[in-house]
Amino acid sequence: MRTLGIETSCDETAAAIVDDGRIVHSNVIASQIDIHAAYGGVVPEIAARSHIEVILPVIEQAIREAKTSWDEIDAIAVTAGPGLLGSLMVGTLTASTLAITKKKPIYAVNHIVAHTFANFLIDNEPRFPLLALSVSGGHTHLLLFESPLKYRLLGATRDDAAGEAFDKVAKMMGLPYPGGPSIGKAALAGNEHAFKLPRAKLPNTYEFSFSGLKTATLRALQEIVGRDFHTPSSELPKLLTDNQRNDMAASFQRTVCETLASRLREAYDEFQPASMVIAGGVAANSRLREEVSKQLPVKLTYAPISYCTDNAAMIASMGYFLAEAGLATDPYKLHADPSLAI
Ligand code: KG4
Ligand code: ZN
Repeated sequence: MRTLGIETSCDETAAAIVDDGRIVHSNVIASQIDIHAAYGGVVPEIAARSHIEVILPVIEQAIREAKTSWDEIDAIAVTAGPGLLGSLMVGTLTASTLAITKKKPIYAVNHIVAHTFANFLIDNEPRFPLLALSVSGGHTHLLLFESPLKYRLLGATRDDAAGEAFDKVAKMMGLPYPGGPSIGKAALAGNEHAFKLPRAKLPNTYEFSFSGLKTATLRALQEIVGRDFHTPSSELPKLLTDNQRNDMAASFQRTVCETLASRLREAYDEFQPASMVIAGGVAANSRLREEVSKQLPVKLTYAPISYCTDNAAMIASMGYFLAEAGLATDPYKLHADPSLAI
């Protein structure tokens, strides 16, 4: 079964052609990172407008690169949420219009859950029960899958997502957006034990919290420079030396990675899954991968970075499983839901 996947939940316009939920024929991603970098984060209105400009060329390119045609496409899968409303609307409206005009069934996909399906696109397909940590700029969710479509949420973040914390702390220190890769790079030259940052104490739960860590990092930076800025300020980064910035980047990264890995370890011990995966943009972090292999007794396989960060191949993959289960959506009723529940 050949599926066209469409993803526009945040700042990537993406389309992909995937067979049987596993074989990727094309995976086209038009990133808006350069546009938003000037603002230090994603600007929703600009994101929606950029999606409108490129969505049709991106879909055409995905079809062309896969050397296929509309006649051979059996279904369309699209991200219905969660994400930015304006961005999601561009994807869902485009997808439902195509479904109606091309007479194809359409499948509404949950973006957070779909991140896990990146791991069906590589060798070593995960087995069930499957424990999945979906961790990116918009979400930090721990999920337990009994089968591809039978899953439950063990815990999520109470406030900031891990990637969001990376982005905000990077901005505080004057490092470029997106913060994850720039903190990762700065951390390579830093001492990760230079600063002891606090961890949220959330006993007997699989929830996360990163907002306290973000505030503590700001306080520690203020202490270093000897000035008390009430909010993150553009002055603060100018007062930091490269060494201080690198040490803080490394210490912050260590704290986030240790927190994520220890929660994963607790869930692993309780549920004894047959497989485990980490998905989403933060899964690209090599320090996180190192910490997970230190704390967990199993070796994880990771999807390549182009499948970890936002993409449409994972959407097409989950769409295939929805199609197998006969869970098509009426294209006239499909709508974007910014806070779509798991
Ligand atoms: O999955 P994704 O592309 O989009 C969302 O659904 O949010 O994830 C983007 C997030 C950003 O917050 C970015 O800073 C973070 O993933 N990220 C990383 C790395 N690469 C991307 N965080 C830590 N280390 C990385 N290497
Ligand atoms: Zn994502």
